[in-house]
Amino acid sequence: MPIDYAARQAKLRQIAGADAVALVPGANMFYFTGLEFHLSERPVIAIVTPDDGLSFIIPQLEMPKLHQRPDLEARAFAWSDTDGYDGAFRQAVDELGLRGKTLGVDGLTMRVTEWLEFQRIDGSMRVNAVERQIINILAHKSAEEVESMRRAVKLSEVALDRLLAWVQPGMTERQIANKLSEEMTAAGSQGIAFEPLVQTGPNSALPHGMLTERVLARDEFLLIDYGGKSDGYPADITRTFCIGTPTPEMQKIYDTVRAANEAAIRVSGPGVAMGTVDKAARDVIEAAGYGAYFIHRTGHGLGLNGHEMIPQIAAGVTDRLEPGMAFTIEPGIYVPGLGGVRIEDNVVVTETGLDVLTTFTKDRFTL
Ligand code: CO
Ligand code: CO
Repeated sequence: MPIDYAARQAKLRQIAGADAVALVPGANMFYFTGLEFHLSERPVIAIVTPDDGLSFIIPQLEMPKLHQRPDLEARAFAWSDTDGYDGAFRQAVDELGLRGKTLGVDGLTMRVTEWLEFQRIDGSMRVNAVERQIINILAHKSAEEVESMRRAVKLSEVALDRLLAWVQPGMTERQIANKLSEEMTAAGSQGIAFEPLVQTGPNSALPHGMLTERVLARDEFLLIDYGGKSDGYPADITRTFCIGTPTPEMQKIYDTVRAANEAAIRVSGPGVAMGTVDKAARDVIEAAGYGAYFIHRTGHGLGLNGHEMIPQIAAGVTDRLEPGMAFTIEPGIYVPGLGGVRIEDNVVVTETGLDVLTTFTKDRFTL
């Protein structure tokens, strides 16, 4: 079924506190128009106005992409490298009636450079950061989007399976990550969602650590956080392993994180407060005596942007889960010096419960 971009843009017109919405290249522009551009020093801006539909301020050299999409019925304010973009901005501001108006933007992606250009044309224009409202639209996934996410998860799991048949002590984190990226591509991923995070031994105690040249040893943690992509939608999966024999404490940490992950999955569903999901995981970890070592939220929204701010699976959040919301469930325990365990699944709220996209077994801790 072709995507109804006009219907998606119509939702932008309902955003409160903005007379028009402006989008820069990236996931939001892709979602609302299907068009992809590099975010570069050449500004490209999609503007959704109440009366004038969809317009683009766009470099001349990008016009072929717009010509290929007559369905968008988009108006173009094109500019050339020779003339610069002042004229195109001025024309757009005048012809779209933006003087003195408030432009809604995603404050996380719109750059100061685009905004200053609007200000230069008309100092009475205002900006309003409406990213929560924009992401709230993206947060409600259609059945087709969910199937894209399921494909991304599936191919990522195939890649992890192949990696585990290959990985050995003596390999570096970077070698393992590179191999995993290759396996994702081989399994049909469109590039990768992000560089795989492979953390060995004590390095796994840093939730947002970096890849290093550390060599994997036997009997220690091997934490892998990674994801492929399908139709632009990412997977974001974590599994933790031990090649050899874990100590009783390592086993206890693994079993506790697994129980926390499963408790959060069990409690999730439509109408459930986001903080309740976090609490379900946190209670398990606290009861096992590791509360001080669970140092991040339980999960984040997942979509075209990668991490998305809705839903936010964190302590005290009273907003409720709604059908179509996709997110991660990723409790962890991080013990400095020893290492850490995280188990991350990708899930989608349905009308009646929860669709768990990840299927990779959690029984496979020791290899
Ligand atoms: Co992750
Ligand atoms: Co994540």
